[in-house]
Amino acid sequence: MTIGVAVIGAGMAGRGHAAAYRAATSLYESNLPEVKLVSIGDVNAQFGEAAAKRFGFERHDSDWRAIADDPNIHAVSVVVANHLHREIVEGLLAAGKNVLCEKPLSDTLDDARAMVAAANNAKGIARIGLTFLRNPAIAAVQQIIASGQLGKVLHFSGDYWCDYSCDPNAPISWRYKGGMGTGALADVGSHLTYIAEFITGKTFKSISGAQFVTSITERPVAAAAVMGHGAAEVTGQMDTVENDDYAGFTADFGGVAGVIQVSRVAAGQPNSLEFEVYCEKGAAKFSMTRPAEFQLMLREDKQGQTGFRTVLVGPDHPYVAGGVAIDAPGIGVGQNDQFFFQNRAFLAEVAGLPETSKLPFCATFEDGLHNMQIIEAAIQSGMANGAASAVPAATPSYIR
Ligand SMILES: NC(=O)c1ccc[n+]([C@@H]2O[C@H](COP(=O)([O-])OP(=O)(O)OC[C@H]3O[C@@H](n4cnc5c(N)ncnc54)[C@H](O)[C@@H]3O)[C@@H](O)[C@H]2O)c1
Repeated sequence: MTIGVAVIGAGMAGRGHAAAYRAATSLYESNLPEVKLVSIGDVNAQFGEAAAKRFGFERHDSDWRAIADDPNIHAVSVVVANHLHREIVEGLLAAGKNVLCEKPLSDTLDDARAMVAAANNAKGIARIGLTFLRNPAIAAVQQIIASGQLGKVLHFSGDYWCDYSCDPNAPISWRYKGGMGTGALADVGSHLTYIAEFITGKTFKSISGAQFVTSITERPVAAAAVMGHGAAEVTGQMDTVENDDYAGFTADFGGVAGVIQVSRVAAGQPNSLEFEVYCEKGAAKFSMTRPAEFQLMLREDKQGQTGFRTVLVGPDHPYVAGGVAIDAPGIGVGQNDQFFFQNRAFLAEVAGLPETSKLPFCATFEDGLHNMQIIEAAIQSGMANGAASAVPAATPSYIR
């Protein structure tokens, strides 16, 4: 068996997927079948060609349908703007492909529900890339809490600060379109919300006090294609920003309180997903600014010696042993590694290998719908001047 792979979208995250498929067979046990890097699909032929060449894919396609129609392609990542996910995912699933779709599942709840229905009727598997579940330090904190070592979880505080929109001359792109909640909250808050559930082991029950702010209300139109958060030459024309630069709310996880804040205009913070979790017998902290370590405090330490200690990630923690080329203690891991672990897990499931606790399979489209229902509850709370808004009950696959 050979698994033919394609990535649709050669932008910022698409390159992360392409690199991850290239690395996949070099991670963990050598039990994956041959992986053939077949195509990068992008409407921008220049982006597609450059990514195919850089990451060793055989070709590039300007229309995703060429990938859907190719019988030699079995596993496809969909890494395009959120509002384009549904059409492409449905087309791929109808063609019998296995699909790994980027977060958030879509830009509207209706589309997300339709995608879940398509996944349920599909021959192939449909998974979503909740990439930060694969961070070794985050997964280590989750394991410590799930083991009961810190006792009952009391409260959680998380923020995801980014600064990619600080510059008022940063050009308008798909990221700035859609209503409140589809901006910073859907873009980076979609990560923080599943991490809050993963760490606390509890799901969101309701959201209150939601606030959305658009700090920069219009942006220049780019003169050429924009990739990711990148800068570009701009025209003299301006266009309206339709969604949130900042979002914040409080959450009830069923007896556990939480506060969530996200921003794309937090100067000096390019990519800071951070959280603190306080428990009966101690606490833990993590910041993506130092992605290969976490802070742990144990109240049982000797009196006068309690306090946060820094734990460096190494082969004793999830994903690291066999997951990086030099898997020695303190070697360091980062966001690109998260894609490596994630896409390897996707290919293992496509290959029909058994799931292991060391490499859990990827999250489901139902998880992706739940993730969007959390965002929707925040939107509803914001529209109701901060009143509590319920999140529909769910049992996400990442709470084990
Ligand atoms: N998991 C993560 O850490 C992470 C990080 C960044 C982005 N993302 C997600 O990845 C997705 C893409 O984000 P990005 O930042 O890479 O976007 P991007 O704008 O950098 O790239 C999107 C690419 O899609 C191409 N494209 C547009 N329409 C297309 C079509 N019809 N068919 C094929 N290609 C098309 C564009 O030319 C562009 O190259 C989004 O859903 C985003 O939320 C996830």
